[in-house]
Amino acid sequence: MGDEVVTLRDEVLRLTREYTGALAAVSTEEALEEFRIQWLGRKGKVTQLLRKLGTLPPEERPAAGQLLNRLREEIETALAERTRVVAAAAQEARIRAERLDLTLPGRRQPLGHLHPITLVLGEIKRFFMGLGYEVVEGPEVETDYYNFQALNVPKDHPARDMQATFYLAGELVLRTQTSPVQIRTMEARQPPVRIIAPGKVYRNDADVTHSPMFHQVEGLVVDRGIRFSDLKGTLAAFARALFGEDRAVRFRPSYFPFTEPSAEMDVSCVICGGRGCRVCKGEGWLEILGAGMVHPRVLEMVGYDPEEVSGFAFGLGVERVVMLRYGIDDIRLFFENDRRFLAQF
Ligand code: DAH
Repeated sequence: MGDEVVTLRDEVLRLTREYTGALAAVSTEEALEEFRIQWLGRKGKVTQLLRKLGTLPPEERPAAGQLLNRLREEIETALAERTRVVAAAAQEARIRAERLDLTLPGRRQPLGHLHPITLVLGEIKRFFMGLGYEVVEGPEVETDYYNFQALNVPKDHPARDMQATFYLAGELVLRTQTSPVQIRTMEARQPPVRIIAPGKVYRNDADVTHSPMFHQVEGLVVDRGIRFSDLKGTLAAFARALFGEDRAVRFRPSYFPFTEPSAEMDVSCVICGGRGCRVCKGEGWLEILGAGMVHPRVLEMVGYDPEEVSGFAFGLGVERVVMLRYGIDDIRLFFENDRRFLAQF
């Protein structure tokens, strides 16, 4: 073997150490490319040595060529391997950067609350629907006829003063009660009738227990042979469903133009249980609804025959019931939409 080749072999060994070290330091795609140019490019270290082959004596060229070609192949293989490692590391880094922690708690959308009136209305509807009643609705802008006359309150009758009416143009009023829905229902169908009619009513009245708009639930049952005992049994069961099984109830005689006889139902005070307190004004009882047997004149006006059918009706103020249920002492809280109040239900 010639001297030239021996020197070349040393040179190749040196270069091997050099490229190995250089490649180990390469960790980016740009550095890989730089390395390729430096070592294998047209002016790269290996290429330059290969060019010098021509200056060697002809008999030494094959061995020298073999040495250099092997070096080049070695570098190519090492570069390919390094490229793979760098790419894998880059991928790893990207994945780590994009990582989502699926165990982090999400940001919850705060859920709203049902308004306390809506809650209690729901309970009332569920109770009566359970007894087979249908839920019906009527208009809030009513005619004088449905709001008063058909309920046995003729024009100029003193009973009109029981309710501070908002009169609108012509014969229209804002309904002062849900009772007109009784009339609309009876006009539209024949007995048996079993309905409740929840909704908004309006009266010109405002203080801690009166709001110009409030809610009532009307009830009406008409069939053959409906008696006062049906009224009592139904409404007592209702009071117990709403205020608790051991709630005492009592019926007091009262007056409404559209019922005869008429009554008001009281429940034993939900605050003191009947001993007497500020809420029941020392009485031990709280009035929660008006009721009565549908007046024969009302039945006649809708075309029913009072000799054939009879019925009972009732009406309750929803706000009052909600105030008693939750111990709320100011009706205005229901309509101010203060979220600190609403969030309690
Ligand atoms: N409409 C009456 C009011 O607003 C409440 C009422 C009392 C309704 C007796 C009725 C009833 O159906 O029978 O004061």
